[in-house]
Amino acid sequence: MRLANKIILITGSGSGIGKSSALLFAREGATVIVNDLDEAKGLETVNDIHASGGKGHFIHADVTNPESVLQMVNQIIEKYGQIDVLFNNAGISGVGALHEIEPDAWDRVIQVNIRGVYLPSKYVVPHMMERKSGNIINMSSCVAEIGLARRASYSATKGAVLALTKSMQVDYAEYNIRVNALLPGTILTPFVENFLKTSYDDPATALASIKKRQLSEELGSPEDVAQAALFLASDESKFMMGSPLYIDGGATFGKNA
Ligand SMILES: NC(=O)c1ccc[n+]([C@@H]2O[C@H](COP(=O)([O-])OP(=O)(O)OC[C@H]3O[C@@H](n4cnc5c(N)ncnc54)[C@H](O)[C@@H]3O)[C@@H](O)[C@H]2O)c1
Repeated sequence: MRLANKIILITGSGSGIGKSSALLFAREGATVIVNDLDEAKGLETVNDIHASGGKGHFIHADVTNPESVLQMVNQIIEKYGQIDVLFNNAGISGVGALHEIEPDAWDRVIQVNIRGVYLPSKYVVPHMMERKSGNIINMSSCVAEIGLARRASYSATKGAVLALTKSMQVDYAEYNIRVNALLPGTILTPFVENFLKTSYDDPATALASIKKRQLSEELGSPEDVAQAALFLASDESKFMMGSPLYIDGGATFGKNA
């Protein structure tokens, strides 16, 4: 039990990487607070946790809305007294080169992917500071490091999350709070399936070309990222501070041809 007795909040854990992490963390002994904008999906994650004998609890909240996030954090503190790990996972994709993106679509990606990390952190950090103990995992992406076609808004947010992670780490180190970032490559989740369907006339050819981008020549699975998140959430990673952790099949540092 690598997460025994830990209270862990995972935003956007009704689907994909967040859901896999919630199930894995619960199997490792954590009580998982499942948050999502989509109530049905969030409740499904909690049902799956309970079905496998774990402890989980759903809270509906929009990570871009301060009142909603503050209420969620207060509810957790009231019920459990503490939050040991905050996993800022919720995020949305944004497609297009900069000139193709309309201002509203740009703003929405910035809101969810950056404000959605800022707000839960803002309200959770004071509780961690008070206890002089905490662990925050921010979801970035390998697009923070490499240029990828037609991902201007999305890569801007994931670069910001990586920079924010380092800045947060410096500010909160003295409170014994660790802050690290996950940088996945392309992981087959509903997020990517949707992106393929809506962005390409021929999703199968697009998928084949995305696979080639990674040295593995296969996409990652949500479990691959969940295992890396488990390491960051556990005390095994206690000497990792302000660091990016790549889970990308070689997409960032390798080249296929
Ligand atoms: N799938 C990939 O290839 C990949 C690669 C790198 C990084 N990421 C990042 O990993 C994270 C999870 O991605 P995924 O692929 O599992 O996506 P997903 O779409 O399967 O899951 C994201 C979840 O976040 C929820 N969500 C969206 N907006 C929200 C909001 N405002 N408040 C609360 N919940 C909200 C959605 O309802 C959804 O359940 C995202 O931050 C994404 O950018 C994904």
